[in-house]
Amino acid sequence: QAVRLWGGRFSGGPSEALARLSQSTHFDWRLARHDIEGSRAHARVLHAAGLLTPDELAQMLEGLDRLEADVASGAFTPTPADEDVHTALERGFIERVGPELGGRLRAGRSRNDQIATLVRMYLRERARVVAGLLLDLAAALADQAEANIDVAMPGRTHLQHAQPVLLAHHLMAHAWPLVRDVERLRDWDRRADASAYGSGALAGSSLGLDPEAVAADLGFSRAVPNSIDGTAARDVVAEFAFVAAMTGVDLSRLAEEIILWATKEFSFVTLDDAFSTGSSIMPQKKNPDIAELARGKAGRLIGDLTGLLGTLKGLPLAYNRDLQEDKEPVFDAVDTLEVLLPAFTGMVATLTVNGERMAELAPQGFSLATDIAEWLVRHRVPFREAHEIAGACVRICEERGIDLPELSDADLAGISPHLSPRVREVLTVEGSLRSRAAKGGTAPARVAEQLADLRATIDGH
Ligand code: ARG
Repeated sequence: QAVRLWGGRFSGGPSEALARLSQSTHFDWRLARHDIEGSRAHARVLHAAGLLTPDELAQMLEGLDRLEADVASGAFTPTPADEDVHTALERGFIERVGPELGGRLRAGRSRNDQIATLVRMYLRERARVVAGLLLDLAAALADQAEANIDVAMPGRTHLQHAQPVLLAHHLMAHAWPLVRDVERLRDWDRRADASAYGSGALAGSSLGLDPEAVAADLGFSRAVPNSIDGTAARDVVAEFAFVAAMTGVDLSRLAEEIILWATKEFSFVTLDDAFSTGSSIMPQKKNPDIAELARGKAGRLIGDLTGLLGTLKGLPLAYNRDLQEDKEPVFDAVDTLEVLLPAFTGMVATLTVNGERMAELAPQGFSLATDIAEWLVRHRVPFREAHEIAGACVRICEERGIDLPELSDADLAGISPHLSPRVREVLTVEGSLRSRAAKGGTAPARVAEQLADLRATIDGH
């Protein structure tokens, strides 16, 4: 039998079309466990306020336990007549404890303060899972950095060869943003850590119920300071969606490089068979689908965020039914990251690095020209002039189709009297790398320290 939570002043039931539009159980049913947990906490404050006898409280808690077990086993599920997760669970509760006791639970709470609280509970739980998955990926990048600690590669700007760097340095440049995404989730949690229970529909509860007690019961450190804000605000949902979108963008940037690196032209990495796909027609193909799906899903995560912001824009206080539209995007963001991250981590953990190929390309494209200029500066030549001299070296090499280390002593002297043959000490990838020895640089010693720092940061979370 259908239970509506608002039938009293209506002469008939809702139209079929309205019921179909209004229904949300197909997406909010995932909040059932949190809804029941909220009901337990609510029953306890009703009892504390003298509105339930100890016996009634015990019966309620026992009924909620049975309901939870039936939800978990699938014995109880929503029907098409249930408007939302709250309505369905109230029906289930009444079916188990009877209408007299069952009808007492809803006193002093509204679906508005319920949903605002449940969505926080749910997202706080998933945020911890997503943070764990992100740390797994950061650790996989650290492992690859360590396994290839000596490998040099061409560092790029504008996708052009710029200066040699260590692959480990480059890989950790992808790990740090993921660590910051974890830190964003931790920081977000401080704002999500407030229960909206007790806000009622919007104005607060009149029945002497203690919002702080419910908050503590549900694992929040505090109750919201304002009942209108508590029921109407969804910035906490939007901010979660932002962190999810930012994470998607960070993954997508790494994905794009892996896609490039796996091409014949680059030949920097080989993907493991278990983490690549084939073609239905071209037998030779091995495709980086995980990386491509990551790149594609970043667009979807951005859509989840912008859709949600569009929903919130222009909503007057307090609750409006529009707010029901917050759930599908943010649930999609959670699901997307939870399915994407394990596959992505597997791809990173199992890829093979072609270190020889990377090292061979590291000095190409005159990527040591900056080292000539800086060597001159160390020999008291003003940088402006040093830049011109190094540029002249590149021009002559280009004309002759040779590389910088191949310039003869006479060539060097002809370009500038400042260029002694000793400049060759920096014209190697090793020399160039070693010279970038300040904090944060790509010198092997700094990169080793950075790796230890990254590991400690990951372990600290
Ligand atoms: N299911 C709704 C939501 O997700 C909560 C119900 C509030 N409905 C209402 N008519 N006040 O936001």
